[in-house]
Amino acid sequence: MLFKQQALLRQKLFVLGSLAIGSLLYLVARVGSLDRLQPLCPIDGRFGPRSQDEIPLRALQFKRGLLHEFRKGNATKEQIRLHNLVQQLPKAIIIGVRKGGTRALLEMLNLHPAVVKASQEIHFFDNDENYAKGIEWYRKKMPFSYPHQITIEKSPAYFITEEVPERIYKMNSSIKLLIIVREPTTRAISDYTQVLEGKERKNKTYYKFEKLAIDPNTCEVNTKYKAVRTSIYTKHLERWLKYFPIEQFHIVDGDRLITEPLPELQLVEKFLNLPPRISQYNLYFNATRGFYCLRFNIVFNKCLAGSKGRIHPEVDSSVITKLRKFFHPFNQKFYQITGRTFNWP
Ligand code: A3P
Repeated sequence: MLFKQQALLRQKLFVLGSLAIGSLLYLVARVGSLDRLQPLCPIDGRFGPRSQDEIPLRALQFKRGLLHEFRKGNATKEQIRLHNLVQQLPKAIIIGVRKGGTRALLEMLNLHPAVVKASQEIHFFDNDENYAKGIEWYRKKMPFSYPHQITIEKSPAYFITEEVPERIYKMNSSIKLLIIVREPTTRAISDYTQVLEGKERKNKTYYKFEKLAIDPNTCEVNTKYKAVRTSIYTKHLERWLKYFPIEQFHIVDGDRLITEPLPELQLVEKFLNLPPRISQYNLYFNATRGFYCLRFNIVFNKCLAGSKGRIHPEVDSSVITKLRKFFHPFNQKFYQITGRTFNWP
């Protein structure tokens, strides 16, 4: 009798053990598959309707798989040929504005399975030395991608550099141009904060923002100060409009990208003629960082580097008022040209 009970118990334990091992193996296989190559192109012309909350695991897994490895330079020539990978010139460029949220925009667009970002700022069009190396040099700086994908790069210096519009036009006169802007005074202070941090890192002293932004002789806004000049968006845009029609630009609201990124990204998807693929699933608010972070899939999340989202120094309120007054007419012109209005003071 006792022997029979023991045998039964052993049998039950065996079944339970098998079930546990089976489940474990299944989980390991599933998580392991996240980093494996997705052999079939996840994007094709047949984009069906999708629910907003659907987990886009299959569509996105290759971003952390094969392409990711290749961008690290781990691809052999054979693999590149086998998977038909190419280095394509960008179909869209984030041309600025510095401190507008250019990195966040690029990283967030890269969530889209049809977008592949150039990780570094390439500075091809604004740097004469790089430009002299020729377009093939530029193309070779691009990441590997599947032919149906689009490459996007960002170099915010393009927006304010005199020669750039003509140079980009010569490469591709129908390229799509993205400009991300923030309220001009906030952007100027953010610009200053970045420079200040650089000086502090080198143990150097630096002027206060107020001293740079206001001309001490006239007590007016110092238009020679670069952080001020960069925020006169309309002046720069007008130079670009000598080469490209306004339809080729899309203006992104950088302040809204911070607080409510998804609708801004959806507008960009539309502008780039991409099917809507970035969803709320891909963006989650990280209370510690105070910003939205990115979720590629169940195993891979990332927030932007700590250098994005710095604390700004306090600026004298009369200087802020003066700057806002100064930017006001330029902002009006910018709204008029772009057809996008912001609630800037
Ligand atoms: P601050 O550092 O002034 O807050 P850029 O990438 O063009 O240099 O822009 C940097 C700005 O991007 C940051 O400016 C920050 O406010 C903004 N930003 C927008 N979305 C962000 C995000 N999800 N994480 C971090 N910074 C973000």
